[in-house]
Amino acid sequence: MPRTTPHDHLPRASLRAAVVWEALEDALARHGAAGPGGAAGEGAAAEHSAVRPLDVLDTGGGTGGFAVPAALLGHRVTVVDPSPNALFGLQRRATEAGVADRVRGVQGDIHALFDVAEPGAYDAVLCHGVLEYVDDPAAGLANAVAALRPGGLLSVLAAGLGGAVLARALAGHFSSARRALTGPDGRWGEADPVPRRFTPEELTRLVAAAGVEVRAVQGVRTFADLVPDGLAESEPGALDALLELERAAAESPAFQPVAAQLHVLGGRK
Ligand SMILES: C[S@@+](CC[C@H](N)C(=O)[O-])C[C@H]1O[C@@H](n2cnc3c(N)ncnc32)[C@H](O)[C@@H]1O
Repeated sequence: MPRTTPHDHLPRASLRAAVVWEALEDALARHGAAGPGGAAGEGAAAEHSAVRPLDVLDTGGGTGGFAVPAALLGHRVTVVDPSPNALFGLQRRATEAGVADRVRGVQGDIHALFDVAEPGAYDAVLCHGVLEYVDDPAAGLANAVAALRPGGLLSVLAAGLGGAVLARALAGHFSSARRALTGPDGRWGEADPVPRRFTPEELTRLVAAAGVEVRAVQGVRTFADLVPDGLAESEPGALDALLELERAAAESPAFQPVAAQLHVLGGRK
């Protein structure tokens, strides 16, 4: 049976999100199969048809790139995001996908999460593309974890330092690559729109310090952003081969430090 993929109308965007989505889909399936309050062990049956609907909170969920596919699996998803435009896009995307009844958008901030969400009330919390932007990543993450039921699943996606250094260097911006590499926050300059980036060690340490047992780390978009469009799309089968390469690199500790993004999955202790 073909997998569901977020953004499946856009092959390149789908390629960029695929590794994260596949890991998240499997983790949700295992969690849903485990029964309330805990994740199933390794190798547990992950038949989606047997999965109970989970309460999922997507902090900084934006226009629903992950929230809507999660709702398509049958889960009830609450998206908390400060941007009214993003929430408008979310509503439209959920409606088009036929899951508007399972997706709720709420305007709010991860730093004041419990103004709009219940603590300890969610089976899974997503925090994707947020920690690199917020004022205090540790405090934001602490709120995301506090929203989980004990044993609940946490999925964190954040900007990787090494991927940004590589991308700057390969584009010929050697000084800004060095600045990102040697600076305190992984920024390549004043014009860098991303306030901070993480190494795999920094991100896993942050997640573990929030009271989460780290179960998996992946490097995301190790090559996808570096390969010129023409190269990946000119030959039949090249995009599929690139996706296979991304999957292999995601699991490789040798390549995680140079990925554009890092994905960490874990369970609330
Ligand atoms: C890069 S987008 C990621 C969107 C989505 N999570 C995804 O992966 O497709 C970052 C999102 O974080 C939201 N955001 C920014 N600051 C935030 C904060 N303090 N609390 C919660 N969300 C925030 C933005 O509005 C935006 O929708």
